[in-house]
Amino acid sequence: MELHDWAKSILTADTLEGKLAYPDLLTDNEPGPAIIWEQPERPPGMEFKRPSKKDKLPSFHEFSDPDKRAICLHRFAGHELLAVEIMAYTLLAFPDAPARFRKGLAHTLNEEQGHVKLYMEQMERLGIKFGDLPLYRHFWKHTPHIQSPLHYVTMMSLTFEMANLDFAPMYGNAFLKHGDHEAAQLMATILNDEISHVSFGLNWLKRLKKENDTEWECWEQTLSSTLLTPHRARGFIVNEEPRQKAGIPQEWISNLYHAKPKT
Ligand SMILES: [Fe+2]
Ligand SMILES: [Fe+2]
Repeated sequence: MELHDWAKSILTADTLEGKLAYPDLLTDNEPGPAIIWEQPERPPGMEFKRPSKKDKLPSFHEFSDPDKRAICLHRFAGHELLAVEIMAYTLLAFPDAPARFRKGLAHTLNEEQGHVKLYMEQMERLGIKFGDLPLYRHFWKHTPHIQSPLHYVTMMSLTFEMANLDFAPMYGNAFLKHGDHEAAQLMATILNDEISHVSFGLNWLKRLKKENDTEWECWEQTLSSTLLTPHRARGFIVNEEPRQKAGIPQEWISNLYHAKPKT
């Protein structure tokens, strides 16, 4: 199957099986014309809902209640599904991107599909199914700002996925504290994969940036055109170690400490 057709099938799928399908053989001989996808099709009951205040994530001190942990896992699974769709969006939007970029992106997409499945297993253990709770547009509303492969790696790999280098271990520790070893193990798996997704983004930013810009300068400048701020690339604390493993330069890590939330 061609990458183009696979990406399209993900965005038009109205079943979870279709969203999570991975063909035996993927080729990229005919990337086709650029397509800017407006809105993904969703399985019944999994359409985007408007977020409301009552949909706030439970606090860590409530995690002794498995239902509260399940709510968190459902939210994170929603992010994984959005990542799947945004990667499919990017494959369709940039048929002229380097073949190795498209291949790496397809590989990452497949890992995100794997993450959705892992979350589904854990949700089932805690008594809910994917789609039982509301799902939100979240990352999808930023797609108009993905104007090039550089914008994609800036926003997705090096902002949203980079922030998960802080959030995944934070939630992993909280699950562990309340004796949920399986959920904690899942967060450790996610963290490990996320390091390689961030690293993919960094490697492409290095190839696509202007020669005289540092990685930080290129990222910050590109990010400002997407209306996001550097603070979106971190959690409450900045974990240096996973960023170092991903190859993020020290200048960038140090600057993140000072990044302020948007007011
Ligand atoms: Fe993921
Ligand atoms: Fe990821």
